[in-house]
Amino acid sequence: MKKWIVAFLSFCMLLGIAACGAEKTENIPMPENKSEEPAANVETTPVTEAGAEKPEDSSTNQSGSKILIAYFTWAENTQVENPEEVDVDATTSASVLLPGNTAKMAGWIQQKVGGDLFSIIVSEPYSSDYDECLDRAADEKAENARPELVNHVDNMEDYDVVFLGFPNWWYTAPMAIFSFIEEYDFSGKTVVPFCAHGTGGLAGSVTDITAALPDSTEVLEPIGVYRPDIDSAQPVINEWLEGLGFEEREADIEVENTERKLKMTVNGQEVAITLYDTPAANALYDMLPLDLNFEDFNGIEKISYLSQELPTEGEPDGCDPDVGDLCLYAPWGNLSIFYQDFRYSDSLIMLGHIDSGMDVISEMEENTSIVLEKAN
Ligand SMILES: Cc1cc2nc3c(=O)[nH]c(=O)nc-3n(C[C@H](O)[C@H](O)[C@H](O)COP(=O)(O)O)c2cc1C
Repeated sequence: MKKWIVAFLSFCMLLGIAACGAEKTENIPMPENKSEEPAANVETTPVTEAGAEKPEDSSTNQSGSKILIAYFTWAENTQVENPEEVDVDATTSASVLLPGNTAKMAGWIQQKVGGDLFSIIVSEPYSSDYDECLDRAADEKAENARPELVNHVDNMEDYDVVFLGFPNWWYTAPMAIFSFIEEYDFSGKTVVPFCAHGTGGLAGSVTDITAALPDSTEVLEPIGVYRPDIDSAQPVINEWLEGLGFEEREADIEVENTERKLKMTVNGQEVAITLYDTPAANALYDMLPLDLNFEDFNGIEKISYLSQELPTEGEPDGCDPDVGDLCLYAPWGNLSIFYQDFRYSDSLIMLGHIDSGMDVISEMEENTSIVLEKAN
């Protein structure tokens, strides 16, 4: 049985907190033994208690706020020499394999609300051995230590909203979270805690974090996800974010602010296009103007091969195009303008959208020569 569970049980027994003991112990897993895991839905919690208040106007839309998603995860704070030899299943135990549970949550938050990801890394990595990591974490907690961090947010003053993610370590957040909090001025900022945990839930983490923050920091309702539920938690996380008013992707807002307009001239007729702000779209923008030849593909899209490759690093793995989407099909290096709806495809990269002139596109004949150029 995990040491923190043993300690937790002893603590409850000592204090004689019957209700607490009943609530927590019935769900305690034996992480080394899969068969004794509780049902997967036992403890997935958008948590509503824990010293953090939902803002009065929970529909407040955060669009326009600059968002940082800072998180700590064990997997990014340890060194694993032979990952293939690690026999740690993230559904039954804390994992040293990337991505860590908290990192997964951070990624889904970013997908929904945009913002910048920041992984909190300690100078001295934790052991990849679970018991050794537990021991050091226990010592650090007992000493109220502030482990030194290697990386820093240079422009914290620019962020209005800081999502702060952590695993539950010994009924609170890892001490590195407190190193992080104390390094910056959080006055006037909004902090949104999220936690990956075992059967201990959020325990005292959010109360401790709230106490470490200035009074002028607004701490929104946190979410805690029980580790066996992590892989299926994206919808729950989206629901939680929507409940807090985070409905619009920060990335979308940036797209609007930085959108570039293109003009495509087809037989004297103009097609207006908005190009997004992504690595591949930016590279296309730099190549303009272009003379291109379009052909039909399967009665679904008009395609044209580019003479140069567009970079796809940092782009999503694929997308589900709608009518009017301008995409890159990376393996073939062709632009695609969809005039019929199509399914999700791997390696299809979204570049932009046709604003007007879709009829011109769908009526383009084989080998139509067009000019694609900047419109602003
Ligand atoms: C040092 C350490 C202490 C832990 N203490 C607790 C705890 O007190 N309560 C709990 O519910 N889970 C505890 N866990 C389990 C983690 O919170 C859980 O596995 C989490 O999903 C790990 O997230 P990560 O992959 O982002 O590190 C502990 C894990 C470690 C490594």
